[in-house]
Amino acid sequence: MTQWSAISRTVPSIHSLKNTKKLSSKDVAIVDPELAETMPVKLTANTGMDALTHAIEAYVSTVACDYTDPLALHAIKMIHNDLKKSYDGDKDARTSMHNAQCLAGMAFSNALLGIVHSMAHKTGAAFSGGHIVHGAANAMYLPKVIKYNSKDERAAARYAEIAKFISLPGSTTEELVDALIAEIKEMNKSLNISSCIKDYEGGIIDEKEFNDKLSEVAANAIGDACTGSNPRIPTQEEMEKLLLACYYDKEIDF
Ligand SMILES: [Fe+2]
Repeated sequence: MTQWSAISRTVPSIHSLKNTKKLSSKDVAIVDPELAETMPVKLTANTGMDALTHAIEAYVSTVACDYTDPLALHAIKMIHNDLKKSYDGDKDARTSMHNAQCLAGMAFSNALLGIVHSMAHKTGAAFSGGHIVHGAANAMYLPKVIKYNSKDERAAARYAEIAKFISLPGSTTEELVDALIAEIKEMNKSLNISSCIKDYEGGIIDEKEFNDKLSEVAANAIGDACTGSNPRIPTQEEMEKLLLACYYDKEIDF
């Protein structure tokens, strides 16, 4: 759908985001829900949370605009309504998800993304125990990054707008941001996605290896193409703390 492709290869292990415009530039996209009808549940969960992350990151991106905001907000509402139903096999919900992921793709093609994606790109193939699948990585990191980004006033207000748009409870910006975080954690749980890297796929990412590579992975994540449009630009120390929070499921207080 977009000019970007997540490219994964297991041997040797690589995972990166490539601008494949020259290879895959197209005039027409076939958005046919029948293509996704036989998608396995795990893929449904992971790609659905990836699409949600696209829409949320596009909405709080520093280059979001009047043309991308409606696409992002509507995609968020559709995914919030229909991802779990699609996961449970509802065909109409799967059609809705197929359209929603396209809207989210149109939003982020112009508004770009943020550090959830920076972290997912650079942790994806960094560890010998196995791949952290792109959508699952985004799903695990999104709640942590929302908390981190919400120290930025504009980003907090935008997350609160999202929460209100999908009728989450809260009367202050902080309450609404926390409600959005809680809702995403609940969605992950209902889709059987781990809450942290330590628990991912039964613990395939070794704790010592994660800590040994932390500094290098954090530096790579800061240098990722998606970092530039994130509401806050993390320091090396902050990115390491974010990654540790994602590994051990720690709360974000910085
Ligand atoms: Fe993505």
